[in-house]
Amino acid sequence: MNSLIELRNVTKTYHLGDETLKALDNVSFTVNPGEFIAITGPSGSGKSTLANIIGGLDHPDSGSVVVDGNELAHTRDNKLSNYRNHNIGFVFQSFNLQGTNTALENVMLPLVFSHMKNKERKIRAEECLKAVGLADRLMHKPSQLSGGQRQRVAIARALAVNPKIIIADEPTGNLDSARGGEIMKLLSGLNKQGITLLVITHDMNIARTAHRIVDIRDGKIMERRG
Ligand SMILES: Nc1ncnc2c1ncn2[C@@H]1O[C@H](COP(=O)(O)OP(=O)(O)OP(=O)(O)O)[C@@H](O)[C@H]1O
Ligand SMILES: [Mg+2]
Repeated sequence: MNSLIELRNVTKTYHLGDETLKALDNVSFTVNPGEFIAITGPSGSGKSTLANIIGGLDHPDSGSVVVDGNELAHTRDNKLSNYRNHNIGFVFQSFNLQGTNTALENVMLPLVFSHMKNKERKIRAEECLKAVGLADRLMHKPSQLSGGQRQRVAIARALAVNPKIIIADEPTGNLDSARGGEIMKLLSGLNKQGITLLVITHDMNIARTAHRIVDIRDGKIMERRG
């Protein structure tokens, strides 16, 4: 099977004054289409750095990152953002919603990069909010929603572009365990529909529901079976 994501010898170093820190140290791994992978590891081990590089939000210093046949390391920034906008949905721990916009407007936002007309974007955003169980909250602003509902808006926003890959960085980190469980059910449901899912989590109960666990320590990968 052709892999969907392939990292080879990826290194990312941060410089702060005289100090250098290897956030990723010669990381290699592959993800097959349709997989659900949990990325675990202590705070500061490099999980978000890895997710951002896979998602094309950041460049590695060296090594190769091939996503869906595209070599991201050699892709120019505008092409990279174009790729990202059409293929990858991000879900963050802190939701990253626009506070002054309604749920509907938040989900419509990533579609500005598509060729859809405003009306089509609205219909698509409504569909996505419906898919996450928020059909009755379209006009609510983030401050008028619960934490779990905000995270569902963030998932709807990730879904809007019909992505091949969803990358969720601690999607349950700000939720209680019941709400977190609902979010994971939603995400794993999307994976069952064929979306490749990468979930960063501290929670081993969540990690164990993945097909595979990729554990990071000091920027190095230690893989185990899920
Ligand atoms: N922009 C930056 N400049 C300097 N150092 C950074 C930068 N971003 C991250 N780092 C460092 O790189 C390391 C990896 O950071 P990263 O955010 O990937 O960790 P993480 O595993 O996601 O941690 P957490 O579980 O706390 O979110 C950390 O030691 C962090 O301090
Ligand atoms: Mg992180």
